[in-house]
Amino acid sequence: MKSPLLILHLEDDPNDAALIQAALETGDFSFSITRAQNREEFLAALERGGIDLILADYRLPTFDGMAALEIARANWPDIPFIHVSGTLGEQQAIDSLKSGATDYILKTRLTRLAPAVRRAMQAVEQRAERARLETQLIEAQKMQVIGQLASGVAHDFNNMIFIIMSYCDLIIDGLGPESPLLDYGHEIRQASERAASLTRQLLIFSRRQAVNPVVLDLNEILKDLNKMLRRLIDENVEMSLVPAAQMGHIKADSGYVGQVLMNLVVNARDAMPNGGKLDVATSNVTLDHIYASSHPGVLPGDYVVLSVSDTGAGMTSEVKARLFEPFFTTKPRGKGTGLGLATCHTIIQQSGGHISVQSEPGHGTTFRVHFPLVRAPLDLAPAPLQAKSDRRGSETLLIVEDEPSVRLLARRVLEARGYQVLMASNGQDALQVVRHHAGPPIRLVVTDVIMPLMGGKEMAEWLRTALPQVPILFTSGYTDDAVLQPPEPAQGIAFLPKPYTPSTLINKVREMLDAI
Ligand SMILES: Nc1ncnc2c1ncn2[C@@H]1O[C@H](COP(=O)(O)OP(=O)(O)OP(=O)(O)O)[C@@H](O)[C@H]1O
Ligand SMILES: [Mg+2]
Repeated sequence: MKSPLLILHLEDDPNDAALIQAALETGDFSFSITRAQNREEFLAALERGGIDLILADYRLPTFDGMAALEIARANWPDIPFIHVSGTLGEQQAIDSLKSGATDYILKTRLTRLAPAVRRAMQAVEQRAERARLETQLIEAQKMQVIGQLASGVAHDFNNMIFIIMSYCDLIIDGLGPESPLLDYGHEIRQASERAASLTRQLLIFSRRQAVNPVVLDLNEILKDLNKMLRRLIDENVEMSLVPAAQMGHIKADSGYVGQVLMNLVVNARDAMPNGGKLDVATSNVTLDHIYASSHPGVLPGDYVVLSVSDTGAGMTSEVKARLFEPFFTTKPRGKGTGLGLATCHTIIQQSGGHISVQSEPGHGTTFRVHFPLVRAPLDLAPAPLQAKSDRRGSETLLIVEDEPSVRLLARRVLEARGYQVLMASNGQDALQVVRHHAGPPIRLVVTDVIMPLMGGKEMAEWLRTALPQVPILFTSGYTDDAVLQPPEPAQGIAFLPKPYTPSTLINKVREMLDAI
């Protein structure tokens, strides 16, 4: 309960006022009283604001308790109103409660007053709590709808961009280094990369993008991205990287952590159009119970911290309150989509961490990301695949994919490298193809995960008996809990997130065939 309570007491008789004050003092709360003796004083006190509770006598020389109640209900409906009356009248009490009074206390029974005040204040708190929960629920529902909408569009978009990008790569390859058309090809490639990065944010934020968490060192990511970050910022921004010396490990998807870092740095850059300082630092911290209890959703423990500070414009509390809302932006149309921080928030939550912000208008901004520390050795990062154009083969492969344009593209890419390619549009279809196939044995299956009639996982179960030694390469643009988790790395199974480029497909296929 708020303390001290500011009580407005409408009462003309000083003796009664003293008695009532004494009755309130028996309660277990602190309070201060503003007294009013007539309509003008009553209104003036309410208009000044800050009143938590109204006590009102029933009869006054120039004003009366029912008129006071009417005014209070019409203009300050949330302030509890208790009539304290000297006259015993059942009808009066009924009228008062019917007109919206919170309680009705007789001056002869003032021991009831303090408990009635406490009850009234608790009801106010409960109402506020319910209102808060309702807003939270509406927010959550809003997020869910936006997420569904976004992921529906983004998934189709992803497929289209993938096709544009891949054919563009094939065209660039085919043109050769001397072609005057090469520049056009690169322009298309760049534009489709920008489109792909936008859809990636949408998919991440709606939790429909494949996640591949590994044990990693945050400083390594900083080092890897250093060059790219410097390219992002203008010359008038002075950037310094301050990595912690003994860095703890975290478990996260390195691509996603890079995305978080990039989004924070781009925001910092945008906040300093006239230049300034940008500090990116890492550190190790231990958060104790005291910290955790004052930060909802934070568990005590050891964390690795990434902080990004700028000396830019800072933010008002209104902006801070809406920061992580998807599509919330203060930037002009075409400049910001408002997805940057919403994406960061989703990524950080997925890895069990949290993000906080410190900012004042005119005093810059610091974002701090806490990732839970993991005590495990680093997962070795897979060596980046070189797009070796001589990675060819002649084996027979089966491609299972429901999207005709993606299927055709994969076939063209692989046939161009000498492979024999069989095609199927879903799991059932694939089993038919396998049954009726009479040519050279199938050496590898490349399959989508989600398909009509029979998905990739179920098909893989069947194939284990029909083609026991044949490795399976799953490709997918999504992950969801049940079906969509990338399969556990097992003998003869691999996962290639979509969209993939022709060269990653070629390399992955060759690598799997060579491992048999
Ligand atoms: N470092 C910062 N300094 C000042 N304001 C910031 C900072 N970072 C974020 N903001 C405010 O938060 C808003 C939301 O940021 P967010 O990254 O989600 O979207 P955006 O940058 O507007 O668009 P997008 O990232 O999608 O291009 C920004 O429009 C800006 O008002
Ligand atoms: Mg942004």
